[in-house]
Amino acid sequence: MKKKVFLTRALQDFALKELKKRYKIEVHSGKSPISQDKLQSKIQKIDGLICFPYDTINKETLKLAEKLKAISTFSVGFDHIDTEFAKKRKIRVGYTPEVLTDATADLAFALVLDVMRRVSEGDRIIRQGGWKIIYGADDYVGLDLQEKTLGILGLGRIGKTLAKRARAFDMKIIYHNRNRLTAAQEKKLGAKYSSFDYLIRQSDIVSVHVPHTKQTDQLINMKTFKKMKNSSFLINTSRGKVVNQKDLVTALKKNIIAGAGLDVFETEPIDKKNPLTKLENVVLAPHIGSSTQETRDKMAKITVENLNLGINAKKPIYSVGY
Ligand code: DGY
Repeated sequence: MKKKVFLTRALQDFALKELKKRYKIEVHSGKSPISQDKLQSKIQKIDGLICFPYDTINKETLKLAEKLKAISTFSVGFDHIDTEFAKKRKIRVGYTPEVLTDATADLAFALVLDVMRRVSEGDRIIRQGGWKIIYGADDYVGLDLQEKTLGILGLGRIGKTLAKRARAFDMKIIYHNRNRLTAAQEKKLGAKYSSFDYLIRQSDIVSVHVPHTKQTDQLINMKTFKKMKNSSFLINTSRGKVVNQKDLVTALKKNIIAGAGLDVFETEPIDKKNPLTKLENVVLAPHIGSSTQETRDKMAKITVENLNLGINAKKPIYSVGY
């Protein structure tokens, strides 16, 4: 009898076809994420689960998963899964790092360019019929990137790749990370280590690349914004919960900081009533860090392979825990 695999959302056709060859699959349909109640009822009967960053795979849910052997998430982030408890229950957890590094670093850099050169703001002005004067000397002025200091908070794969992008734009790069690079690695990357505090105070742009954990929850809050320069920008392509969103809105409204480029939010999706949508000095993206055709296809392939291995009690290609 075929093993049962449940997907909380469909993957690309080629991936579903692969899964169907081996498993009896069921896919949650509809635009909204599956409810916790429904997930808890499904998880009792399945051998494998494919999930997404907005699902909550917590201890209460995992306790019900009597047959479950593998969880494979279509994301590099796995803060939505209680991986410790999964490990205790010998459930393998796979995720999709590496393949999305370039795409996510590109998006972070796109947000830097957009918010500093006011591209989306200009787009909105034109669409609303507000472009009246040609080439006014100080109309829609943005800021140069060269010589600005980019502070990279969390120098993992994506942070390092962002540093490469920034170097090509002649930016100065400082970083803060749990582990410091060797002097040779720092030289190669063109990035200088700094304390968290120095980075926050000195950067013209602070780009967040730390995962969401107990330690990084609301790491960026009003205290942080008050230390940042009034002229500085915050970029977040990591997880919304690393930033206190209410404080961010206040900081942007009161010009405590100059602007923000955001791909992630405390709760997603945000709707048009969200105060962030009323602010001109913010560029908003709908959590599309990894969303390029090439990257998403690679992610789907790895998601399936991780599941195939985990469901057979083998270590996924990219494995959390064990
Ligand atoms: C992930 O994979 O966790 C990212 O948030 C995708 O953009």
